[in-house]
Amino acid sequence: MGDTKILPGSRHRSPLKRPIWIILMVSFVSLFLVCAYIYPPNSGVACYVFSSRGCKVLTDWLPPPKRELTDEEIISRVVVRDILDTPPVESKNPKIAFMFLTPGSLPFEKLWDMFFRGNEGRFSVYIHASKEKPVHVTWGAFSMVDAERRLLAYALKDPDNQHFVLLSDSCIPLHNFDYVYNYLMHANMSFIDCFVDPGPHGNGRYSTRMLPEVEEKDFRKGAQWFTMRRQHALLVMADSLYYSRFRDYCRPFADGKNCIADEHYLPTFFNLVDPGGIANWSVTRVDSKSYRAQDVTEIAFSLNLWNGHMKLEVIFNGNFGQYSFSC
Ligand SMILES: *[C@@H]1O[C@H](CO)[C@@H](O)[C@H](O)[C@H]1NC(C)=O
Ligand SMILES: *[C@@H]1O[C@H](CO)[C@@H](O)[C@H](O)[C@H]1NC(C)=O
Repeated sequence: MGDTKILPGSRHRSPLKRPIWIILMVSFVSLFLVCAYIYPPNSGVACYVFSSRGCKVLTDWLPPPKRELTDEEIISRVVVRDILDTPPVESKNPKIAFMFLTPGSLPFEKLWDMFFRGNEGRFSVYIHASKEKPVHVTWGAFSMVDAERRLLAYALKDPDNQHFVLLSDSCIPLHNFDYVYNYLMHANMSFIDCFVDPGPHGNGRYSTRMLPEVEEKDFRKGAQWFTMRRQHALLVMADSLYYSRFRDYCRPFADGKNCIADEHYLPTFFNLVDPGGIANWSVTRVDSKSYRAQDVTEIAFSLNLWNGHMKLEVIFNGNFGQYSFSC
């Protein structure tokens, strides 16, 4: 009964208010549609008009658009994942492969001879002497990467080789064999120098020709003297995608860019495929002092006397710390 009393009352008021209410509603909707037409919601103008801050926050919050992987990238990822997931073959007689890149003979041959003596069966030596091979190796040219890959391929033929050390003719050992052997064998790491260099001799060498697979944010630099475990050596053998990008676009160009493949290919490659598996530094120290062949007798003599690194530290007055080799 109370309802019937109230209803007439409201019915009595609404005829007066309804037209105003409808007019207001229609005007607001029209205004909104006109605004939406003039300032489409995705345009920067809309962001600016309504809230410049809000728009920025929104774009920050949204995940970056995902690039669709190329077929080559998918192939590369599958191969890399399987190599890394396969446990290394256990060797009864694990060896370290010492691989020398040299334009000729080894000036420190005597010194290395003393380093290796008594450790037969625990190492292999491979020498890439460009005089004997038709490949012309020039520092900084891509043929350097090819020489490194050839050394790795030959060293991988021996299944006992578990760790691979790249050295040049001017490198010397800073510790005795046992120290180096235990250090490298027990670290399940590859010691590959890898860092971002934002300057002209780092990211300044990056070329957008390597897109889409190699973005500038992934570009890395590092001295070429690495040591790597067997799985990583296999990854280098299996890589054709990044290898071909660096081969084709990491060379002198008319625009003055030359990306020095041996300083960028491996650091960038491992940063892309297994960043957590490399130490980001190399056990090989690159010394500004270059050792002369005349130093050999003295070093060899000292090694003999002191059975290791003590006398070497005196001669070069350096603190070797974590380093195993110096070049
Ligand atoms: C290295 O060994 C540690 C434990 O000894 C393990 O946690 C780590 O995952 C290993 N890293 C690699 C790259 O195999
Ligand atoms: C090497 O650097 C990468 C990033 O570039 C990082 O993910 C990785 O953990 C680093 N490795 C070590 C051993 O700290």
